[in-house]
Order: sequence, then structure tokens, then C-alpha cells
Amino acid sequence: MIRPILTYGASELETKSSPITQFDGQLKTLAQDMLETMYAAPGIGLAAPQVGVNLRLIVIDISGGERKGHQIIFANPEITEQEGTQKSEEGCLSVPRFMAVLERPGRVHVVGQDLEGHPQEIDAEGLLARAFCHEIDHLDGLLYLNRVSALKRDLIKIKIRKLVRAGEW
Ligand code: NI
Repeated sequence: MIRPILTYGASELETKSSPITQFDGQLKTLAQDMLETMYAAPGIGLAAPQVGVNLRLIVIDISGGERKGHQIIFANPEITEQEGTQKSEEGCLSVPRFMAVLERPGRVHVVGQDLEGHPQEIDAEGLLARAFCHEIDHLDGLLYLNRVSALKRDLIKIKIRKLVRAGEW
């Protein structure tokens, strides 16, 4: 089921999410819904707070569903190592219509669990590393807007306020 994606201004997006302790059917449904919602958007990553659930669950597919075997589901993901930097334009389904250039680690090692609660880990670089950083930020109540310059952030916020006033946000 496709769920509505919350946009900037929703309190769930600025709340630190809780660790997942129940690896049950409800969690599997949430993960399935998040994948459907991400592909429909379309996007390459989604975190549970974006659909209003403050649990530490993320889904990523940097192929956008174009290639098999790219689907990633992580419960309780944590970056345990990072290396280098990359600078590139980043956007977010919760901040539609805007993009900003942002520095992220070039490579990350992520540990967490699958939907059964079994440990899993992955080495990611490039766009995938960026996606993990972005989605894990969501779990900590951070949007990419929190990581751009104050000037750029204020500019985007002013534009969003205008959209809100126009009833377009
Ligand atoms: Ni996002």
C-alpha cells in the first residue's frame, strides 16, 4: 500500500526514531509499504519517519527499481566506519522541488538487521553511501537542510513558506 509522504514541517520528520525491537508481520508490512511508496514517488530511498512512523527502518534502491538485486531494507542501521568525502546535489521526497549540493562521506560501512532481526552489514560507496547517510539522518530527525549552509537553508525555507501560503505545500 502506498502511504502519504510527509513533507517539511511535519513533527515526525524532526523526531529521533526508536530502535526496532519487534520483528513481526507489522514491520514487514511497513517495509513493503515503504518500498511501494518509494518506487511510486519515484525515489531511491525512504525512511519510516517520512511515512509518519518513528521507527529505525530504511529502504533504498539506487536503481529506482530498474535493476533486480538493488533493493535494500535495513532495520536499526548504523554507520560504523566512514572514509573520504563526496560532494554532490541531494534532494529529498519530504522536501520536494528543492536540491542542494552537500558533502557526504565517500564510503561507509553500515551495520544493522534484516526484517527477521538477523544481523546484516554492507560496504557502500558513491551514491549508495550518500543514500545511507541521508536515510539514517532521517532516523535522527535530520533533513539534508540541516547540513547545508545557513544561507542556502534560509533561502529554501523562505520559498517553502511562500508555497505554504499559496496552499501548495
Ligand atoms: Ni529524504
